[in-house]
Amino acid sequence: MELIRQQTKDYPKVYQWATQEGLTHPEDTAVVFYDFDILDNRLDYLEQHFPANTLHAVAIKSNPLRAVLTHIGQRGFGLESASWEETVLAQRAQVPAERIVFDSPVKTQREIDWCATHLPDLHLNANSLAELSRLPAKSDLRVGLRINPLVDPGSPDEYNVSTAVSKFGVPITHWSDIVEAAVRYPFIQGLHLHIGSEMSRLDAHAGAVRKVLDLAKAIREARAKKGIDAPIAFIDVGGGFPARYAGGPQPDLSEYLLFLRKQAPELFTDYRIITEFGRFVQAHTAWMVSDVEYVLQPGPDQPHVPIIHCGADLLLREIYQPNGPEHQLAVLKADGQLKSADTWPVHLAGPLCFAGDYLTRGTELPRLETGDKVVVADIGANSFSMWSRHCSRVFPKVIGYSQRQGWIRVIKEREDVEDVVRFWG
Ligand SMILES: Cc1ncc(COP(=O)(O)O)c(C=O)c1O
Repeated sequence: MELIRQQTKDYPKVYQWATQEGLTHPEDTAVVFYDFDILDNRLDYLEQHFPANTLHAVAIKSNPLRAVLTHIGQRGFGLESASWEETVLAQRAQVPAERIVFDSPVKTQREIDWCATHLPDLHLNANSLAELSRLPAKSDLRVGLRINPLVDPGSPDEYNVSTAVSKFGVPITHWSDIVEAAVRYPFIQGLHLHIGSEMSRLDAHAGAVRKVLDLAKAIREARAKKGIDAPIAFIDVGGGFPARYAGGPQPDLSEYLLFLRKQAPELFTDYRIITEFGRFVQAHTAWMVSDVEYVLQPGPDQPHVPIIHCGADLLLREIYQPNGPEHQLAVLKADGQLKSADTWPVHLAGPLCFAGDYLTRGTELPRLETGDKVVVADIGANSFSMWSRHCSRVFPKVIGYSQRQGWIRVIKEREDVEDVVRFWG
């Protein structure tokens, strides 16, 4: 099946649809649009490409909007939480505990006890051997142990979590300690790995799964020797599959799956698979449209400097990290029609008060004037969850829609200045 993404022609159509429905107001200097058809497309894709009993737990950190989490749950999928607070978000989105996977390197005793009481069927992946001693000996928690397979996933450095100094998972070189712990704590039902985001070495990921399956076999044998009848029932392969922000075909999972089937065939037959994709599911689901408030013209031959209403507050990773994803841009006129005037280079500025707040520099865009609107594509992953309070601006309204099902509605109201005042105590 085809992986779909937003087309430029959709922006004016959806923006005007929202306007006709009375969903946008002059105070909405920036609005985020969330496309549930693209979310469904990614979920359908996962469903088609993995065994039927796979639990796809979409990483909440990639997009924690409540309506989105609720939709994922209603579709029968799960959620991966990276903190106790995200676990509560999943619970409030009515996702059953057995479809929530709680990963965090810093779970407190209080959080663990809360989960055992309130979400007894929760999947909980312990991050270290020390954490295992905090878990109740008898509970309905589905406990996994995170392993660091020490494999280079070819991720950017900030997202490579499989190094020798990683804070995530028990290094696989601690093999005998892991096996011993699995014998001592027979409640361990699964092994977990997530080696990095934006992986470029899918063969290495499959190699990491191979190592973890060998470890599962060693655990099975050690338990059998002690007469312990407790299988390793699930393998959580994490997330980390990349998205492509430039034009052209989308990376699909065929190569990822091919490597897995070749290097770790029993994953598909002997275990329940859990996945934790974030960026792959969310990257293309959302876009932002912002008014151009001013167009500064520093000099006759200089790029113009249009200033818009979201910058490093919404696109924190991209702006603070020069190698972040480059979002495609489009321009709408004040009436919401696509603008295709002669192009002119621009340094597209965000609203924050520091010199680095530029979305792009030197990019050619149709010549901009105050009142035009700039569309920033593909902001569905790791933007809302990284919202920054620097300069204390309000989080924009989020409008959800499905062109296939013919509905559009506000799924998150624009923050009020009082929300900001309250945030600061
Ligand atoms: C444990 C874990 N699982 C899943 C993810 C999601 O990764 P991605 O968005 O790259 O798929 C992350 C991201 O940091 C993670 O730490």
